Order: sequence, then structure tokens, then C-alpha cells
Amino acid sequence: MSTPTFHPGLEGIIAAETRLSHVDGEAGRLIIAGYALEDVAPHASFEEVVFLLWQDRLPTAAELEQLRQALAARRALPEPTLTLLRAAAAAGLPAMDALRLAIDSLAISLGAADLQEQALRLVAAAPTIVAAYWRLRQGLPPLAPTATLSHAANYLFMLDGVAPSAERVRALETYLNTVADHGLNASTFTARVIISTASDLVSAITGAIGALKGPLHGGAPGPALETVFEIGTPERAEAVLRAKLAAGERLMGFGHRVYRVRDPRADVLQAAAERLYATAGDQQLYALARHIENVALALLAEHKPGRRLQTNVEFYTALLLHGLGLDQELFSPTFAVSRLAGWTAHCFEQHAHNRIIRPASAYVGPQDRRWTPLEARG
Ligand code: ACO
Repeated sequence: MSTPTFHPGLEGIIAAETRLSHVDGEAGRLIIAGYALEDVAPHASFEEVVFLLWQDRLPTAAELEQLRQALAARRALPEPTLTLLRAAAAAGLPAMDALRLAIDSLAISLGAADLQEQALRLVAAAPTIVAAYWRLRQGLPPLAPTATLSHAANYLFMLDGVAPSAERVRALETYLNTVADHGLNASTFTARVIISTASDLVSAITGAIGALKGPLHGGAPGPALETVFEIGTPERAEAVLRAKLAAGERLMGFGHRVYRVRDPRADVLQAAAERLYATAGDQQLYALARHIENVALALLAEHKPGRRLQTNVEFYTALLLHGLGLDQELFSPTFAVSRLAGWTAHCFEQHAHNRIIRPASAYVGPQDRRWTPLEARG
């Protein structure tokens, strides 16, 4: 048998078959359960995308209403989770850590619920956790969820207690739909590894949140926006970005492991951001961000010729979520609120065709060391 090859970062290794999404990095296309992203994301409700990912088809009106009600009925948080969030807020934990802790704590009330019930509960409760935590961190009491609002509208409502406009809901819904699933990314792989051991969904989602938290995965939009603010005016863009590259820093919101052309999600989110900022937002900030994107792309082409570093999803995520009034710290947790749809769907898929995920490692250490008793070591 030939020796297996080591693939750092598992790049190019196919570790799962999926019907959920297809990422074509060369063509810059993202297919969600058979539909082009740009065909679905700007039109669908988030609940429709959840149904699509879970059932592999679009729902009828009655099915959609049934799912909407099932999720709405599971939004409220049990007392142990709220107690934990209060303790996390008192300690000033980052929102992503609070989300991870709170999701894990839902196991207390879930008991031996089946996979479907766990998925409904986790998807439904995530926005309530993020909004409740955010208010606790401001010294404000959490707001009870409103069952009559959609998933996206209720999330915005729970953050500030104001019924959101149709434009804001549409913008958030487009964002949630756009990042709901994306092939075998690091957090989805993590979830599939955990569920492949026949573990539970709470464990899989807790692990996935841990993977999403890192700045090389879902933690980039905050820093991407900070760069825009740091630059401040168009004429400073080139000097600031050049200095970052010269110091060996990565430009946040650019580059991708799979895409070699512009991330199609960036296009969908750019269009959504443009609509949002045109109706309610700082148009100057939007224009500055567009300028920074162009300068960054030119500098990256110069910095890494042939690498084709392009705008990724995080750059316009930052702009869109900022335009929605979300604090930077909420960007990654909001990503998780959306990706829960994909994570849970991947767990269903892995569970249905399971084989424990157990790759191999290449041993590169010594072979012939001899044990020395403690007292004989220098
Ligand atoms: N800025 C500057 N240089 C970069 C950037 C960047 N944004 N991205 C890649 N490079 C450089 C790398 O340093 C590497 O240089 P080296 O060969 O001298 O070490 C070279 O380009 C090739 O890198 P890749 O192999 O394409 O990058 P990799 O696949 O390892 O990483 C990643 C992809 C992590 C997204 C990277 O592009 C990055 O760090 N980008 C900035 C952070 C970011 O925006 N993350 C969000 C990603 S989207 C998502 O996960 C949802």
C-alpha cells in the first residue's frame, strides 16, 4: 500500500458528500441546495432557507408557517441559561464566548430530545441568547421574544426593543441567508466530526462556535470594519494598507482558502449594503469602504502576484451589520445565528450516512528513545 500524502490544512481533501451547498472557488459560484445564492438570499425568509437546508426543497406556505411557529415557540431561554448569561456579563466575556457557554447550557433543558427537536431549539434560541447577552452587557434587562415576528425581525427587536423597518429586516434576512451554509468550512467540519462520533447536537454546535470564533474564520468582520475606521478618509487608504502589508499583517476581509475570484457572497452583501445605506445610513462610510476595497485589491495583487487574493464575505458583512446598527462584537455571533442552519443540516446529513471521521497523522518524531527513571534525569 502506498504511503498516504500529508495535506496541511486538509486542503483539497474531500471528507464528506453533501447536498447542502457547493462552493466553486474557480468560478466564484455558491449553490445552496441546487439554487444559486443570488437567486435565494435576497428574496427568501431565513425560515425558508432553514427549511430548504433541512428538507432539501422549498416549503409550501403551510409548511413554512408551521416551521415559523415551531421556531417562535422555542425562542425563550430557560432560567439556567439566563443565570449563566448574567454571570458571563458580570465577567465581561466576549459575546462569542457567552454564546458558546449559553448554547452548551441548553443541554440542561433539552434532556434526551431527538436530533430534530435539538435543532429547532438551538436555531430558535441563538438570537435570544445573543440579544439577551448584549443587553445584559449594557446593564439592560433582556427583552422577551415576540412570537408574531419573523426570526430576523425578532432578533432586531430583542436587541433594542424597537419594531424594525421592513428594509432593516430584509437586509438582515439577506445576510442570514447568505452565510447560512458554505461547504465544508472549518466550523461545519468541526460539527460533522463531533456528530460522527454519535455525540449530541448541542456538543456539535458548541464545538462549531469555538471554531467559528477564530479570526481566520468567522472573526474577521470586526477587524475589517476597524480598518475602515482607522483609515477614515479615502486619501489615507493606500498608506495605511501598504503599512499593514509591510508589517506582515493580513488585510481583513480579503483572501479565501477556496475562492480564487471574488466571493459571490460579497456581491450579494454589497448589493444589500448599497440598498440599506441608500435608505438609512452613512453614505460617506459606504463610499469610503468601496474605495478601500479597490485600493486593497490593487495592493494585494502587487503583494502576492498570482495568488488572486479577492474580497471575501467578511468585508461587506462588516458594512451591512454596522449599517443595521449592530456593534462589532455582535458580528461573529450573528454569523453563528445564521450558520446554525447549515451546521444543523450538516449534522442531519452526517447522521444519516455516518462513518466516524477519523483521519490519519504522519508521525515525524523519533523512534528509538529509551525510558530514563526520574531520578536519573539531569
Ligand atoms: N492579506 C495579506 N496577505 C494575505 C491575505 C490577506 N488578507 N490572505 C492571504 N495572504 C497571503 C498569505 O499570507 C500567504 O502568504 P505567504 O505564502 O507568504 O505565507 C499567501 O497570501 C497565500 O495565502 P493563502 O494560502 O491563500 O491563504 P490561506 O488559504 O492560508 O488563508 C485566509 C485564507 C485565512 C482567509 C486568509 O486569506 C486570511 O487570513 N485572510 C484575512 C482574514 C479574513 O478575511 N478571514 C475571513 C475569511 S472568510 C470566512 O472564513 C468566513
